[in-house]
Amino acid sequence: MKSINILGVETSCDETAAAVVRNGDEVLSNIINSQIEVHQRYGGVVPEIASRQHVENIGAVVTEALRAAAVSIQDIDAVAVTNRPGLIGALLVGLSYAKALAYALNKPFMGINHLEGHIYANFIEHPSITFPLICLLVSGGHTSLIYMEDFQNTRLLGATRDDAAGEAFDKVARFLGLGYPGGPAVEKAAAQGKAGLYTLPRPYLDKNDFEFSFSGLKTAAMNMCNKLNKNGSLNVYDLAAEFQEALVEVLVEKTFKAARRFSAPNVLVAGGVAANSRLREMMRLKSKISDIPLFFPSVKMCTDNAAMIAGLGYHHYKMKNFAKLDLNAYPGL
Ligand code: KG4
Ligand code: ZN
Repeated sequence: MKSINILGVETSCDETAAAVVRNGDEVLSNIINSQIEVHQRYGGVVPEIASRQHVENIGAVVTEALRAAAVSIQDIDAVAVTNRPGLIGALLVGLSYAKALAYALNKPFMGINHLEGHIYANFIEHPSITFPLICLLVSGGHTSLIYMEDFQNTRLLGATRDDAAGEAFDKVARFLGLGYPGGPAVEKAAAQGKAGLYTLPRPYLDKNDFEFSFSGLKTAAMNMCNKLNKNGSLNVYDLAAEFQEALVEVLVEKTFKAARRFSAPNVLVAGGVAANSRLREMMRLKSKISDIPLFFPSVKMCTDNAAMIAGLGYHHYKMKNFAKLDLNAYPGL
């Protein structure tokens, strides 16, 4: 059987990424150009600056992806590109680039859902995963529990009603003065502190559904920070540790409750927050106790990358699910 090489392009937020993946799971290259340094001085992603950075970098990132994969542009069978959800200006850069490339090469291209890409990252690294399964998707913009019968048949069990988990990490990092990107900054601070010395709420933990809410937890952390700051007794590390512990506990408990309720034989975690080492540790522990197998992507594959887009793109390619040149980008789902 002829090998199929897919070039993936991902520009939905603040990483300009390109990758070459063969036959859906053989990652030949995975190049990520992070804009962290550019956005750092603003304390978060500035959408207009992100778009301009993508324009400046996309050509070099794709060239590097081809070079690292040791394939020529002619060896590419199709281009897969994220076209939803994300920052609209940022998405349009990758989409326009992918369209132009596909048109020039006279090759097909496919529009990919970024969140499905995050989930697919697991299947690149663990091809033996079987359905049905419960997937916890935790990124900067989304926190959802999904029951997956297979790729086509999925059911949303619950989602956050306000802040996404990653968003809560980012906001807490900001007011604790830990900087951007918030998730890794809180994780680092938490490692130097101790959870349990301060007490924060575990929102929706006892509710019988699969909804989440992290805005109240964030506000409780903010109020505690202000109060302790006033009397000069704030220990940022302990507060970061307690915040992380509260959020992780809710995610872990609800995910495995869903697995039990729906008798799902596997649990899968995906998205940027899945890179968090405390979440990984507590998920592993719960998986062991519950005797339900657990899957995570490697840390590099948790956060935004184009290998997950190219990998999923292969399946769209096989189904001839090709996009037309009038395909648009969409900020939401
Ligand atoms: O999936 P992702 O890279 O982009 C989106 O699709 O949103 O996720 C980014 C989010 C950010 O909110 C970031 O703070 C969070 O994932 N994140 C983390 C960690 N690494 C990234 N949160 C907690 N701990 C981490 N180590
Ligand atoms: Zn993402």
